[in-house]
Amino acid sequence: MQVNQLTSVSAPISVNLEVTDKCNLSCSFCFNAAPSYEAMMQSQEKQDRAEKAQNELLISVRKKRILKTLDRLHETGVLEIRLFGGEFTIFKSWREILEYASTKGFLISFVSNGYLIDGDAADALARNGVAECTISIHGPRDVHDAVVKRIGSFDRAMAAIKYLRESGVVPTVAYTPNRENIDTLEAFIREMCEEYDVMSFSISRLFSDDRYSNLTLDDYYRILEVIDRCHRDLGVEIMLADSFPRCQVPIKYWRYLGYCSQGVTFAQVDFNGNIKNCSATSKILGNVLEEDVTKLWPEKLSGMWRLDHLPKSCKICPIFCGGGCTVSRGVENQFAPDEFIPWPSDESWLQAIAKTVYNRVRKIGHRIFYAQHYAKPESVKELSNTPVVVEYNSRPEGEGHVVMFKNFGVRQLTDQAYEVLRYIDGKRSISEITAIVQKKYNGTSEAEVVEILKSLPLR
Ligand SMILES: C[S@@+](CC[C@H](N)C(=O)[O-])C[C@H]1O[C@@H](n2cnc3c(N)ncnc32)[C@H](O)[C@@H]1O
Ligand code: SF4
Ligand code: SF4
Repeated sequence: MQVNQLTSVSAPISVNLEVTDKCNLSCSFCFNAAPSYEAMMQSQEKQDRAEKAQNELLISVRKKRILKTLDRLHETGVLEIRLFGGEFTIFKSWREILEYASTKGFLISFVSNGYLIDGDAADALARNGVAECTISIHGPRDVHDAVVKRIGSFDRAMAAIKYLRESGVVPTVAYTPNRENIDTLEAFIREMCEEYDVMSFSISRLFSDDRYSNLTLDDYYRILEVIDRCHRDLGVEIMLADSFPRCQVPIKYWRYLGYCSQGVTFAQVDFNGNIKNCSATSKILGNVLEEDVTKLWPEKLSGMWRLDHLPKSCKICPIFCGGGCTVSRGVENQFAPDEFIPWPSDESWLQAIAKTVYNRVRKIGHRIFYAQHYAKPESVKELSNTPVVVEYNSRPEGEGHVVMFKNFGVRQLTDQAYEVLRYIDGKRSISEITAIVQKKYNGTSEAEVVEILKSLPLR
């Protein structure tokens, strides 16, 4: 019987940096406005006010603290920073933070409502290495403006998309489904694609709190139907991000379901250095300015990695999906099973085994379905004699190296594969790379090097 667990890593790889908790919009569902989160921030504000009186302007205190936080994250081995908020563009010194992160060698991306991104901002982002980003838009013009409670926001977001594209930054549109916008999702995606040429969408789970009603399983089925239709009709890439229990979803939709990396390779860190495993939860794990993250991360999260919060059926599930979203039952729940699966105490071993049998059958069904509908002939990759690899950032991890490739995600490489990667520079030939690698790994053949090269995201 398969026994699942999450991968353990010494420290996060990608961090959402909450540059500010403030925002120029007021989305009805925003977890940044959740009461307990506000309470937490208010107590921090008091501390900040005291510091302001003693030292200098709050903004400069904040900036210094953020730069120090970036130093600590760099020392810890974090590879990617995503500027986040609140709305990071309303923090006056955001350009300095961006430049500092870039000089530290982080891969950089961001999530924004786009309201303040003009041509100059887009150029600054591109100049500092940002290649892709997320702009949040929650429906057609009238719907979006009503959701974010500011007229003109839709047009500003669309202008941001235009400026970003002109600067070479590829945007994905993030959409948060809720009662106000769910009926216009299909019209929205079609308009975005046909009139604005947006081809990439990420639809989040709605994390609930007591200010608004949550979505039902039926609502998510409707969303998945729309995703499937739009993908097939328009060729757009759309994911239902934040993970969804695969046992609750027809097999044909599994291809649209994301996985969640929170608490494993992903963390959120705020402008005071407070670190959380998930952006939506209000519970803090510790502080990167005061504690060693490589100690804190395994100490606070090993229970989650062991799946202590999940029912037995997830622990032995043959289609393990991570158990869905840990805060779908509410942003106060830091480690809870997804709202559409049982609590551990609500499930007997008999039920777990029955579900495992059901999931095993669906796993086989999934394989057959995809082989019939989506099997592609294997493409033969032409390899240049002087290969070039996409930009990356890396750190040693366990027996090898963890590497984050720009726009291609994270890979774990053996030391030998990493040695090959290090010498790809667009000038050295494959034989030259082989000769160098052989010095460290005697007996490495050119055929082995070619296999490694083929597995890497080459340009
Ligand atoms: C918190 S915002 C911060 C960045 C920026 N202000 C923006 O809106 O993109 C990041 C993302 O979280 C999403 N979000 C906020 N509250 C949410 C909730 N309760 N459930 C799901 N997603 C939420 C937003 O829609 C947005 O796409
Ligand atoms: S724009 Fe982003 S941070 Fe601002 S209220 Fe909306 S979701 Fe929250
Ligand atoms: S049983 Fe758990 S791990 Fe398996 S698909 Fe359902 S939620 Fe995911």
